[in-house]
Amino acid sequence: ATAQIGVTGLAVMGRNLARNLARHGHRVAVHNRSPERTHSLVAEHGDEGTFVPSESLADFVASLERPRAVIVMVKAGGPTDAVIDELVPLLEAGDIVIDCGNAHFADTQRRETALRERGLHFVGTGVSGGEEGALLGPSIMPGGSEEAYRKLGPIFESIAAQVDGVPCCVHIGPGGAGHFVKMVHNGIEYADMQLIAEAYDLLRERLGATPAEIGDIFAEWNSGDLESFLIEITADVLRHVDDRTGKAFVDVVEDQAEQKGTGRWTVQSALDLGVPITGIAEATFARSLSGHPEQRAAAHRAFADTTGVTPAGDVDRDAFVEDVRRALYASKIVAYAQGFDQIKAGSEEYGWGVDPAALATIWRGGCIIRARFLNRIREAYDSDPDLPTLLVAPYFAEGVAQSVASWRRIVGYATQAGVPAPAFASSLAYFDGLRRDRLPAALIQGLRDNFGAHTYRRVDAEGSFHIQWAGDRKESPA
Ligand code: 6PG
Repeated sequence: ATAQIGVTGLAVMGRNLARNLARHGHRVAVHNRSPERTHSLVAEHGDEGTFVPSESLADFVASLERPRAVIVMVKAGGPTDAVIDELVPLLEAGDIVIDCGNAHFADTQRRETALRERGLHFVGTGVSGGEEGALLGPSIMPGGSEEAYRKLGPIFESIAAQVDGVPCCVHIGPGGAGHFVKMVHNGIEYADMQLIAEAYDLLRERLGATPAEIGDIFAEWNSGDLESFLIEITADVLRHVDDRTGKAFVDVVEDQAEQKGTGRWTVQSALDLGVPITGIAEATFARSLSGHPEQRAAAHRAFADTTGVTPAGDVDRDAFVEDVRRALYASKIVAYAQGFDQIKAGSEEYGWGVDPAALATIWRGGCIIRARFLNRIREAYDSDPDLPTLLVAPYFAEGVAQSVASWRRIVGYATQAGVPAPAFASSLAYFDGLRRDRLPAALIQGLRDNFGAHTYRRVDAEGSFHIQWAGDRKESPA
């Protein structure tokens, strides 16, 4: 046994993680169901470090020092269970199985419990950064036991992205905590991308700007508060010209956004936890809407001439661009605020003790949602771990206050002009809902009591009450 850690599943993510490990001086056992991938990895990249290839899972396990650490990098769901089932009989007490795929956290909790009963550690680990991140330094979010992290931490921290000398890896918490925060990371990723897409659409509609010109606007935005990986690659994608047609690349791509499920899981979990992640939900539903071409075509035909659109009049280009930038910034703050709320709620519900400041720290680099303002999120939670919402942290409160007039103008323009901006609009409505002193929820309580005797609480007395609506209309304690 000579390898310090193993990777089974050598599709692009597994392959790049294995190479990253080898490049950092770890002796890596490598295995894949079809051995060609294993051989090609060693043939093409064998000079990057020490790979210990095996054709069978038994040889692979035998090549690992104890306690063994095995990274499983296969498709989430059934394929992951299949590999774990094959692996477990070959392992011994104290060994560690690490799932670096995008697993659902409930599956991770189940697997962790099952393996713990057999004396094994199971570490569900969120890994973000795509193919390039896996190779050059991802953001790593391991769950599982403290004991497992003591062995894995130094290895993971060595291969993670580094920001100001701090590795983008921290032990998130026990059980499924790592995969839970990775799921919410992806939910925020959905919201971020939808907001970017809406900003692009508004700029194009209002200014008649070309994709390349809008790419330049994004590139410019990337030097300010909005600086982030997604804004940077937006400039790149918008400026890209299609080889075949010479048209803007975005104009030759089918306009149906796909998803593999993590955004949907985030919304499902938020419904269970009762956390209003409205921006993330709108982003997820906007992808669903885009994916119904027949409905879209029918509605397009039916309403082509009945838009009710108010002509928008002359436009001050610079002012409009700045309004969109601020609306994007404020909506983005809402998306992160909602995501962090969900993480807090999940952590409380499942008893994980997730530290939001530590999480913001490891999202500063490596991951898809890395952004300059994560430094500010870290500061906000560092100075007040019980912050009721990120929106009221001084830095963000000021940012929102400076942006709110622009935000309203943009949502107003979108509504008037018939440009769909669901994430902008719902983020603004969320902000207004949160800051309002009285909500019409009081009326909903009255209606519930009226038709279903569901009772209500009063602002001026303890306890619950009910009115005999169909009788004497007197109030009595419930
Ligand atoms: C990451 C990404 C990664 C994956 C997305 C794509 O953090 O590196 O989130 O995990 O590329 O989940 O998800 P969709 O296919 O659902 O858009």
